[in-house]
Amino acid sequence: MVGLTNGEVPVAGADGSGPPWPGGAAWADGRYGPVEEAKISVLDLGVTRSDGTYDVVHVWDGRFFRLADHLDRFTASLARLRLDPGVDRAQLEAILHGCVRHAGLPEAYVSMTCTRGRLAPGSRDLRTARPTFYCYAVPFAWVSRPEQQQTGARLWVSDLVRIPPASVDPRVKNYHWLDLDLGLLEAYDHGADLVALRDLSGAITEGPGYNVFAWVDGRWLTPAHGTLKGITRRTVIELARAAGEPVEEGRLTPDDLRRATEVLITSSAGGVMPVTVVGGQPVGNGAPGPRTGELRDRYWASHADPRYATPVRYEEPG
Ligand SMILES: Cc1ncc(COP(=O)(O)O)c(C=O)c1O
Repeated sequence: MVGLTNGEVPVAGADGSGPPWPGGAAWADGRYGPVEEAKISVLDLGVTRSDGTYDVVHVWDGRFFRLADHLDRFTASLARLRLDPGVDRAQLEAILHGCVRHAGLPEAYVSMTCTRGRLAPGSRDLRTARPTFYCYAVPFAWVSRPEQQQTGARLWVSDLVRIPPASVDPRVKNYHWLDLDLGLLEAYDHGADLVALRDLSGAITEGPGYNVFAWVDGRWLTPAHGTLKGITRRTVIELARAAGEPVEEGRLTPDDLRRATEVLITSSAGGVMPVTVVGGQPVGNGAPGPRTGELRDRYWASHADPRYATPVRYEEPG
């Protein structure tokens, strides 16, 4: 773990021993508490129908990364689903700071969720539902752990079709993960760590929590459609172009993945992570590629860029 370097210190607990909930802190029912005690009703439409949206921003070295972009995406998702969390942007931002402050974490995975909430008793009229809103900060979790990134992850391309965008808009970050989870279980059965699902035309879409890129025919290729527009994806596109590497947002096929000399995944939960095996076959020479390594270095270096970094307010507001 990297120490705090943004000049702030984590909040002290009641006895002055440190932050109260280092295992994670939540904001639910209008107050902070330990994340393991935060609850949601069994009647909540977020639980019974996956009716809700969420976003996840990470904190690294005491700073949020691209917080404004995550708040923009969450705001757009809320509008698309006609959900009102009952807090404005400044309040939401303060709550996210508060969750990290109460956990005292220098590196964290920080989630914000709004569901349709509970219907009025005896009613099935969605207009009677009042949204549920909660946030939490927990220790940073990797899609592909740093040790695994040394050798690269193994990706399985599933025959399972990702829920079509015409049914559920993937640009609205959502909890429709049954296809992704079943695909991941299938990947484990084939000795892989990760899965990518396809669309109805057979093109690659995304995986559980990440976007996919391949270096093929002299450019980075990543799916233009059928995926969440990841903030890490956007960062990688910007960084690659700034370094003079062409990027195409287009149609990525399983054959492109097999021909690619480098494959990587992108996520707020781990950044830029190399894939060295696709469908049991090595990618390129079977080791993480140099372009991937450079992108990964530039990605982590960009966390200190003041355009992207928001220092966590670890001090209790006065
Ligand atoms: C389905 C899906 N695709 C892609 C991503 C990557 O998005 P980001 O880079 O904004 O974390 C996520 C993030 O969790 C996701 O859930």
